[in-house]
Amino acid sequence: MERQLLGTYECLNHKGLQLIVDAFFTAVICFLALMTIWSRVNAAAIPNSCPLPPQLKAKYDFNWKLKNGEKQNLIAKVAYLKLVLSWSPTYCESLSAANRNKQFQCRNSDSFGLIVHGLWPQAAKPASIDDHPRNCQDDKQLNATLVKRFYCMMPDEYLMQAEWEKHGSCHYATANDYLTTIENFYRSLNIPNIRSMKNSTQAKIRSAFLQSNPKLFSSAIQISMNPPNRLKEVKICYDLKNQLKNCNS
Ligand SMILES: *[C@@H]1O[C@H](CO)[C@@H](O)[C@H](O)[C@H]1NC(C)=O
Ligand SMILES: *[C@@H]1O[C@H](CO)[C@@H](O)[C@H](O)[C@H]1NC(C)=O
Repeated sequence: MERQLLGTYECLNHKGLQLIVDAFFTAVICFLALMTIWSRVNAAAIPNSCPLPPQLKAKYDFNWKLKNGEKQNLIAKVAYLKLVLSWSPTYCESLSAANRNKQFQCRNSDSFGLIVHGLWPQAAKPASIDDHPRNCQDDKQLNATLVKRFYCMMPDEYLMQAEWEKHGSCHYATANDYLTTIENFYRSLNIPNIRSMKNSTQAKIRSAFLQSNPKLFSSAIQISMNPPNRLKEVKICYDLKNQLKNCNS
């Protein structure tokens, strides 16, 4: 064994060794460069690409009048905006297996992380949830081009339609205006790597958001968890000029 090793060593004259060392350093440098490029590509790809369903559901229109307990509030004054983000893995876990399989978002749950639930124009001092603006305009089913354009941030056509009619239509003229505003908020956020946070707590998630978004401040973000330590939703508040705002005042 030792003899063999010695033999191998003797085979590598000085030049041979130099070539191996050079090749090694070249390989290390190439590897580091590729890793850097890959991490950039990967980071840029996150909210902008996702699997798309081959076909949208046939029907995803929303009609609040057919929904039990759903109300209309046309008189509430919009005081601020609340962006509601949902941690897709927790949402998907909460569904029965049969329902989970019906949802594209959950069948592909490895692809979806913190998605948009909706953007809610809110009243200033609601005595109850019914005091918020709600169901202001009915609209026809949004077309597939529009749905697909925003699908990666809001991966369900019915959710998109319902949030637009329930909430968006109380402050925005068109679904396109509503979804474009949401997209701008969503893209402006640096979403921390939640999947890598083992056993995360509300406090850990809040501080990760504050760290990765220097303009964000603690009162502008609300975090809700499902016990014990499963992220459910992240809410971020903006004033009517789209600037971050305290959620409680
Ligand atoms: C889809 O809807 C958008 C927004 O309303 C509109 O601008 C676009 O022209 C529509 N596209 C088609 C193919 O109907
Ligand atoms: C997770 O957090 C809980 C509560 O802080 C703690 O009791 C538990 O030991 C932690 N589990 C792991 C695996 O770190």
